[in-house]
Parts: sequence; structure tokens; C-alpha cells
Amino acid sequence: GLDEAFAAVDECFAGAFGAAGAEVVVEAYLDGEEASFFCLCDGKSVLPLASAQDHKRVGDGDTGPNTGGMGAYSPAPVMTAETVERTMKEIIEPTVRGMAESGYPFTGVFFAGLMITEKGPELIEYNVRFGDPECQVLMMRLESDLLPLLYAAATGTLEGMKAEWRDEAALTVVMASRGYPGAYEKDTPIAALPDASAATKVFHAGTAMKGGGLVAAGGRVLNVTATGKTVGEAKDAAYAAVRDVSWENGFYRNDIGWRAVARETA
Ligand code: GLY
Repeated sequence: GLDEAFAAVDECFAGAFGAAGAEVVVEAYLDGEEASFFCLCDGKSVLPLASAQDHKRVGDGDTGPNTGGMGAYSPAPVMTAETVERTMKEIIEPTVRGMAESGYPFTGVFFAGLMITEKGPELIEYNVRFGDPECQVLMMRLESDLLPLLYAAATGTLEGMKAEWRDEAALTVVMASRGYPGAYEKDTPIAALPDASAATKVFHAGTAMKGGGLVAAGGRVLNVTATGKTVGEAKDAAYAAVRDVSWENGFYRNDIGWRAVARETA
């Protein structure tokens, strides 16, 4: 309750976190489901792209420390057509308009981190880039060429452009080096990868070639990605491909997409 919050603030100012506790930002508590929403902007116009949801915690059941993201899927079922419309009207469009009016028009990828509460979408943060691993699932679903869209954003000609999306879901499972997000061994060998197809792809996030063989060269190493008619189907296909990866030092979460799958099977 409030007493706990006061005690935590007192602790910060008493030096419990050193210099990092010298400033405290108080924010409204938002209860709901998180979603990532992506747009392109050319300074004046905004083109909504698509939604996704990632899993930030390292362990199954959304437990353990935060990571850059252990998996994602798109679309996020919580982003219904009505929520998308409200997000555009109440959050994205006023921001883009406000930036242009204050002399700082924004050009590029606009990534809204949202909390979908009982009252509707609330903004947590903006990033000005695609998400990782959200980008991987978006690209699996994008039917249009990406380049003309990016070019239109860069040259102020986005108005009237449309992005076509495949009417299917995509899901990616991140395979990471054991120990991540803490310390992990580098250069561990990856002996085999699944065959790529139109519906299954492995994006390399942290690999390198060493002595003629593929090795893991980072924390998050592979994004094993698949599409399906539903998130559940995409999940089954992605995990089937994960099982074809031969990498002893790798680990992954077993429950990517659990919220969406629970919705689909409810
Ligand atoms: N996956 C979260 C991000 O890219 O910020």
C-alpha cells in the first residue's frame, strides 16, 4: 500500500541505491496486459503497422530477471480493432502532431509500448525503432515490400500508402546462451539448424562463423520463427523447429505465446 511506497522512497533518498536513488519518478500504476504497437511516420502522416507482444522475463510463467525479450508473437489479440483505433486517435496521432507543431517532426519507426487496461490503452513508453524480437514476427507477416514503405517515410510521401499483412499469426522463440541475462560462455558450437521454408525461418541474432563452424556469439542467439493460422499453430511449428536445433549450450522458454493460446482455446 501507500506506506510501502513511502518507505521505498525514503530508502531511495537514504542512499540504498547510491547515486541511482537520488531522483525518484512517481508514475501511475497501470494494471493490464502489455502490447507493442508499431507505426511508420514521415513527419506528418502516420501509417499503423501491426501489434505484437513479447515475453521479457527469462523463465517460464514470466518468472526470473528481465531480458531483452525471450520470444514474441503477432498480432497481439489484446489489440482489437477498437483498441488500435483508440491508440491511433488518443496516443499516436496527438504525439506526431505535437512533435510537428513544436518544430520536431518525427520520421521513422514509432514503437509504442502500451498497457491495455480496463479503461483502454495507456502509453508506457515510446521507442524509435522496431522491437527485438517483435520485428522478426512482424516481418514474417508483412506481405508488402518493406523498402517502399521505409522510403516513403524517409521522403515525406507516406500519405495514402498501405501495408498489406498476411492473415496469419507469427511466433518466435528466442534461443539464448545458458546463463543469460547473466554471464554466459561464448563461442559454443551450434551443430545443426532446421531447414528454412516460407513458414519457418531462423533469424541469427548473435552467431558467428569460427573455424568453419557456426558458434553462439552473444546472449540472445537465434530467433526460431514460424507462422500459422492461429498463434497456437505458429507456436507448435516454431517449437518443432526449435527441436531441430542442435546446440548444447542453448536454452529457451517453453511457453511463448501462452496468453494468446489460452485465449484461443478458452
Ligand atoms: N523487446 C523489447 C524491445 O525491443 O524493446
